Amino acid sequence: MRAKIVAANWKMNKALPQAIELMQAITFGLRQNPASCKVVIAPPFVYLERLVTETTGLAEVAAQNCCSRNNGAYTGEVSAGMIESVGATYCIVGHSERRQLYAETPDVLEAKLQRCYDHNLTPIFCIGENHLERTEERHFEVVAQQLEYVLFNFTVEHAAKTVIAYEPVWAIGTGLTASPEQAQEMHSFIRRQIATKFGQELADNITILYGGSCNAQNAAGLFTKEDIDGGLIGGAALVADDFLKICNELR
Ligand code: 13P
Repeated sequence: MRAKIVAANWKMNKALPQAIELMQAITFGLRQNPASCKVVIAPPFVYLERLVTETTGLAEVAAQNCCSRNNGAYTGEVSAGMIESVGATYCIVGHSERRQLYAETPDVLEAKLQRCYDHNLTPIFCIGENHLERTEERHFEVVAQQLEYVLFNFTVEHAAKTVIAYEPVWAIGTGLTASPEQAQEMHSFIRRQIATKFGQELADNITILYGGSCNAQNAAGLFTKEDIDGGLIGGAALVADDFLKICNELR
């Protein structure tokens, strides 16, 4: 049985008091109405330690990124070891905003995955095609390459410690969600790629999340698809009631 996860990516939003308030509203809601999935919250770096103390076992905390290096003279960077040391347990790697805006290449992403594995962080490895690639019908090819250039350089043991998030770039923050059928088609393709590379057992057990304008209205339709094991939620995760509703849609 693969893990079912709803993860929140808060991106660069909220000052500390609002971040604490949101986390408290989420944990309050989860205590009242426990989710049957794992709940993971990825706040900005500066709130990681504080928010770990707020989760009280009801949710886990993720970083949104980590440095590709271990430690040393890398001003402004945050290492996987530091993230581990404050009690976070997951780390988003390769989000399309990092690939596009911060020029993260497959080599850098491979190093970041390695740092996560070295420091007991479960990477949430993001892949997904952009609008042009989808219109040119190259989406399967693009996603296959994103797997091949990064995740497929690892052993099956490492791959087994990974969560994959399929986030079509054209659906992120645009209100244009992939239809449940489009998402299922790609999730099933990703699972087949994993099976070919690492074997059927891992393919059956790896968690594949959907992200991209997933919200309280459309989550149920996406989550009923057999290869969709949960979501990576951006905008809708900034409102506690919406996020809790999404968590409760995943059974
Ligand atoms: P939105 O849910 O705001 O489209 O963002 C999705 C995302 O990028 C999560 O990582």
